[in-house]
Amino acid sequence: MILVVKSGGEAAVAEWRAGFAAHAPQLDVRWWDEPGLDPARVEYAVVWDPEPGRLAGFPKLKAIFGSGAGVDHIASDPHLPPGVPVIRCVPWEAAQRMGEFVCWAVLSLAKEARRMAQLQAARRWENVDPPFAAAARTVGIMGLGAMGEHTARMLLGLGIPVRGWSRGRKSIPGVESFAGAAELDAFLAGTDVLVCLLPATPETQGIIATPLLAKLPRGAGLVQVGRGSQQVLPDILAALDSGQLSGAVLDVFAPEPLPAENPAWSHPGVIVTPHTASLPTRAERARYIADVIAMLERGEAPPHAYDPARGY
Ligand code: GLV
Repeated sequence: MILVVKSGGEAAVAEWRAGFAAHAPQLDVRWWDEPGLDPARVEYAVVWDPEPGRLAGFPKLKAIFGSGAGVDHIASDPHLPPGVPVIRCVPWEAAQRMGEFVCWAVLSLAKEARRMAQLQAARRWENVDPPFAAAARTVGIMGLGAMGEHTARMLLGLGIPVRGWSRGRKSIPGVESFAGAAELDAFLAGTDVLVCLLPATPETQGIIATPLLAKLPRGAGLVQVGRGSQQVLPDILAALDSGQLSGAVLDVFAPEPLPAENPAWSHPGVIVTPHTASLPTRAERARYIADVIAMLERGEAPPHAYDPARGY
């Protein structure tokens, strides 16, 4: 049973193979571009940003796994083989690491970490007196999937009030739930630190722009861990310059890598991180994918399957 992998480059294949060997030794793990590979023997694929049309070249494919949580880079393939499930990779570790990153980002904004790093670089001993405890500011999470929900619980554990906005209403103890376009403005009006954990869909394209940012209380913080396509970066920088935003942690950009000349790199209100918020090890992801393959082989419905009607 052949599984092809295109994630992390050819150099990563050995690590994927070792991960699968531990949990699904029946899988024969091969590099996506391996010379002489018989496409008719490929049953599973694990991919990041596959060349459009390539997946359609495997006639016996049973499932396509994204090697990350978002599968927009697969779903955008106009020749995606019909009827083959596309499955998002959301092992528990992905939610845990995302929660850790968002807690770090929220605390970094509250504790003015960027400013402290600047002072240290300049060898300057100056008081940094954040005006609020982190727990005095409500975090609003857009997107309450597996990662958003886990992140919400971790923030609550720090004593930080949390509200969430999602397509449908959610019931997470301690989290005020807002649903759908009709409740977006009310959600934003009470959000002091906005966290974007939305998937990239046509609806979320460009959502983090001046009209949305203007609905946040003045001086709000922003943590963007969704997708670069969701933000209008010049609008975010303008909101920082005007004081509408007091700080931002941006992990995703369009394009990536963020070009060296982009002003976000040196903006005093921005912490730039290189699309690194939540990347479980290959061993962790292989274990998750092996478990889902076992479910598929038993004829069970896989978790976290991409739904074209929803767009994620
Ligand atoms: C990373 O952004 C992912 O989708 O896992």
